[in-house]
Amino acid sequence: MAERLIDTFGRAHTDLRISVTDRCNFRCAYCMPEEGMEWLDRGGILTYEEIERIAGILVREAGVTSIRLTGGEPTVRARLPLLVQRLSQLGVELSMTTNGATLPLIAADLRDAGLDRINISIDTLHRDRFYELTKRNELERVLDGITAAVHAGFDPVKLNVVPMRGINDDEILDFLQFGQDRGVTVRFIEFMPLDAQGQWSNERVVTAREILDTAASRFSFEPLTRGSSPAERFRFTDGSGEFGVIASVTEPFCEACDRMRLTADGQLRNCLFALGHTDLRSLLRSGASDDEILEAIRSEVKKKWAGHAINQVHFIRPTKSMSQLGG
Ligand code: 5AD
Ligand code: SF4
Repeated sequence: MAERLIDTFGRAHTDLRISVTDRCNFRCAYCMPEEGMEWLDRGGILTYEEIERIAGILVREAGVTSIRLTGGEPTVRARLPLLVQRLSQLGVELSMTTNGATLPLIAADLRDAGLDRINISIDTLHRDRFYELTKRNELERVLDGITAAVHAGFDPVKLNVVPMRGINDDEILDFLQFGQDRGVTVRFIEFMPLDAQGQWSNERVVTAREILDTAASRFSFEPLTRGSSPAERFRFTDGSGEFGVIASVTEPFCEACDRMRLTADGQLRNCLFALGHTDLRSLLRSGASDDEILEAIRSEVKKKWAGHAINQVHFIRPTKSMSQLGG
């Protein structure tokens, strides 16, 4: 059996997040700068062959069991179903986080190619607000994308919603209703200090506690036993589905973190908030062997710290945004 990737705190790393591109068809303020975003050039991003090689090493030699494709927006990368099809051969649980706008076109292809799970990011159900948040008039397309994902057979389809105070925190009940009506699972994620335009502040964070209090003002629900996922899960007592809350700021799940991230340009990062990384692209392109690559990965994981310490004074805000790091 493959020797798993254990860090100095004893955490086994079984979940690999792969950002396939730093580009995006949206311009969410909390994710990327409005102006002057410098995209990686094409030669700088890993090819599908390179991604497949790293993923293969991690699955075969290091016990990785789940892979999530992220971005930027993964679907802006050409022929994404081809990559999905190749990675699905590895026999891991394969998932993707997307803004949903391309799904009316490719949800069925992704499913056919072997994608197991899909998460769609959507922070508002109001058209004007959607434009303000994403600088794109694409709410309808995203809604169609959600429908397309359901029709393609993804079950459950999950929606990622980041409530931000004074921006969209009045939509928590609407999202829960929407989830029930459409048969999708809404997951609220606490707003983390990763936004490119420096809009984050502690006051902007709508806490899991507040989200649950708001939810309880209209809905009746009860907790489900927590699996390995960071989401606290709840089921509506009338049987109309479930929802989740991810308390990434107020109750960080760092002590159980099993994730590592590969950026579009081939840097391995051991945490969203990591200050360093290991450059796997250079290794690949200099002809390194699988063993050498695996060794580099092992030593990056070993360097992982206990946790992000967002709530502590010595917390250092990363200079990279979510679009560069992958979700
Ligand atoms: N805090 C919390 N979640 C975020 N996302 C992007 N930026 C932040 C942030 N600062 C979410 C997106 C998407 C996923 C990739 O990460 O909404 O669902
Ligand atoms: Fe694109 Fe997602 Fe970032 Fe919005 S949050 S700009 S959809 S990568």
